[in-house]
Amino acid sequence: MTQATTQTGISAAQQEVEEELVERVVASFDNCENPRLKQIMQSLTTHLHDFIRDVRLTEEEWNKAIDFLTAVGHITDDKRQEFVLLSDTLGASMQTIAVNNQAYEDATEATVFGPFFLDDAPEVALGGDISFGAEGQPAWIEGTVTDTDGQPIAGARIEVWECDEDGLYDVQYDDGRMSARAHLFTDENGTYRFWGLTPVPYPIPHDGPVGKMLEAVGRSPVRAAHLHFMVTAPEKRTLVTHIFVEGDPQLEIGDSVFGVKDSLIKTFAQQPAGTPTPDGRELGEQDWAKTRFDIVLAPAQA
Ligand code: BEZ
Ligand code: FE
Repeated sequence: MTQATTQTGISAAQQEVEEELVERVVASFDNCENPRLKQIMQSLTTHLHDFIRDVRLTEEEWNKAIDFLTAVGHITDDKRQEFVLLSDTLGASMQTIAVNNQAYEDATEATVFGPFFLDDAPEVALGGDISFGAEGQPAWIEGTVTDTDGQPIAGARIEVWECDEDGLYDVQYDDGRMSARAHLFTDENGTYRFWGLTPVPYPIPHDGPVGKMLEAVGRSPVRAAHLHFMVTAPEKRTLVTHIFVEGDPQLEIGDSVFGVKDSLIKTFAQQPAGTPTPDGRELGEQDWAKTRFDIVLAPAQA
């Protein structure tokens, strides 16, 4: 006599065994005194068991998953954070950002932080050059920082960082350089301006287990060209975001960490060599680009 089965081909008796285990695991957290931790652990284990049962995970696959996570741990140190890369490439970082930065009026959208921020980047004056010797096409970037009522925010701190024309951040060189990063402050009218580099697409670090995972599933490690911003001002929600480059083919192909938002795609208007620059800087035979990024900060409590 055959046992009753469901559409999935799993017998009712087998389903009961599996469900009873989930119930026991979830109940094991019942006495957790921290209600938030209890909620997280019970939800996490429920979803984990759902996943294992949904794909009918084999023991060989479970072992591979353990080996993979072990490799992610082994390559991680104070300079290389493979767990964050894993979270980024699975879209978990962007989902956490979405949950925690809900749209507020016309506030500028947030995107992924990435692993290349340094908190001791030099200050530049308004109109200064953040490249500090990094190679690439010069780009003039200007804009305003306002609140959601359109009021200018004076003294907002703007951190900017980006890769060079070879797609590498300063910290990826082993010569201790600090380049293509800086911070500056808005003036009394909430305006800012600086020279940076026209962003180029580049791959996230893909010489480790996350790179292998991307290769195995036929995904590219390349990120759409972008320039990172972090903007802080008293009583405002800190904004971590990027601007992307209109026309970058990678925008069509896809960003490996799902960071692109349409509102963050900006025109980097190409200027032939010899075009006068906004601040009179002489660039000789060098072409350059210019763009505008007006930033709107949400209130801290939004
Ligand atoms: C970045 O934009 O710098 C980045 C973001 C996520 C993973 C790796 C790099
Ligand atoms: Fe980046």
